[in-house]
Amino acid sequence: MQSEEIRRRFLTFFEKRGHVVIPSASLVPENDSSVLFTTAGMQPLVPYLLGKKHPQGRRLVNIQKCVRTQDINEVGDNTHDTFFEMLGNWSLGDYFKEEAIQWSYELLTNREEGFGLDPKRLYITVFEGDENAPKDEEAFQIWQNYMPKNHIFFMGAKSNWWSVGENGPCGPDTEMFYDVTSSGLGDLTKKEYEKADAEQKVVEVWNDVFMEYEKKDGQITNKLSQRNVDTGAGLERLTMALQKKNNIFNTDLFISLISVLDKFTSDNIRSKRIIVDHIRTSVFMIADGVLPSNTGRGYILRRLLRRAYVHVRKIEGDFKTVISVVNAVVSHESYKGLYAFNSETEEIISMEISKFGKTLESGLKQFDKGVDPFILFTSYGFPIELTEELAREKGITINRAVFDKEMRKHRTLSRSGGERKFKR
Ligand code: SER
Repeated sequence: MQSEEIRRRFLTFFEKRGHVVIPSASLVPENDSSVLFTTAGMQPLVPYLLGKKHPQGRRLVNIQKCVRTQDINEVGDNTHDTFFEMLGNWSLGDYFKEEAIQWSYELLTNREEGFGLDPKRLYITVFEGDENAPKDEEAFQIWQNYMPKNHIFFMGAKSNWWSVGENGPCGPDTEMFYDVTSSGLGDLTKKEYEKADAEQKVVEVWNDVFMEYEKKDGQITNKLSQRNVDTGAGLERLTMALQKKNNIFNTDLFISLISVLDKFTSDNIRSKRIIVDHIRTSVFMIADGVLPSNTGRGYILRRLLRRAYVHVRKIEGDFKTVISVVNAVVSHESYKGLYAFNSETEEIISMEISKFGKTLESGLKQFDKGVDPFILFTSYGFPIELTEELAREKGITINRAVFDKEMRKHRTLSRSGGERKFKR
């Protein structure tokens, strides 16, 4: 099943059950300065999860573009990426656990309407309870209508409590995992399941959050006026399970990008994965109006592009390699007619890479000589995270506090310089 078909089936399934399809919001959150990028499908819906009336009703479904960079160092393994599409359906104070779980199970396993996944390979986790909320016996009971008890595990808040940041709607969740190994692992005990999860042999394909609590300054303070359901399935991971792959880079969402790098004989798969992931994310950021810069969102974009280029050099590619991947993203079959890209994408990325390309080699030489990360940043354009990564590879630790202090001094100086100029 190709990714286009997966999106289509997901939306149709929920439309048939009374949900209205809403468009993906921008990657750049509107009216929310607390986060740089949209990280989950629920994020643009926060006011409605808190009780505001949504103009399209109480049952919604969509496919939301998301960027998450907190796991950037994991990119290169089988399942992590910095951009992804999140399939989500919502009940804004309408249905609750019974329907949410039933529909999750049906969509995952039904062959005609859904994805036809093998139920024997599914594992379910349910919230075990803590001082904030009780053990989710209800979800556990409902799941037993569909799944044998030995495939349902109670887990703590670390894995089965969902919230975005320190403030906002939150709640316990139930997560669905799929055994993606070729021969199948058979029935796993909880301990074996946890090991398989750590080894990426079982992969999370869907999450149903039962959002009925509110958090303020990191503390759960109250129950919301309505009980919501917020679900999220990462398209890339779901596609991996459906296409019987053991990693996202072999799915149709990545294969046409990775194959651009086939001509490089380097067996450095991690670098190849980092290159396609970071360039894909950059193209989507630029589509939503982000430009490379030294602060905020622009800095994240700059970091991604520059890091991608360092990895391009590692596999002995060059400037043209970056552009080939950019072109593969904008002409991707799966994005046609769905996402509009910025017509200046190639130009924006070319400028950024050629600027960095000029200082990269000399910067690397300076790095080898042990030059200060602050100089590497200001004179050679090395984002601190890149210097830290290069240092890590050599077993050196960078003193981040010293760098941050120098940066603060530098920013104050350039600001006061600017003010003087302005006054004159
Ligand atoms: N908000 C939840 C998540 O991101 C479900 O959508 O996993």
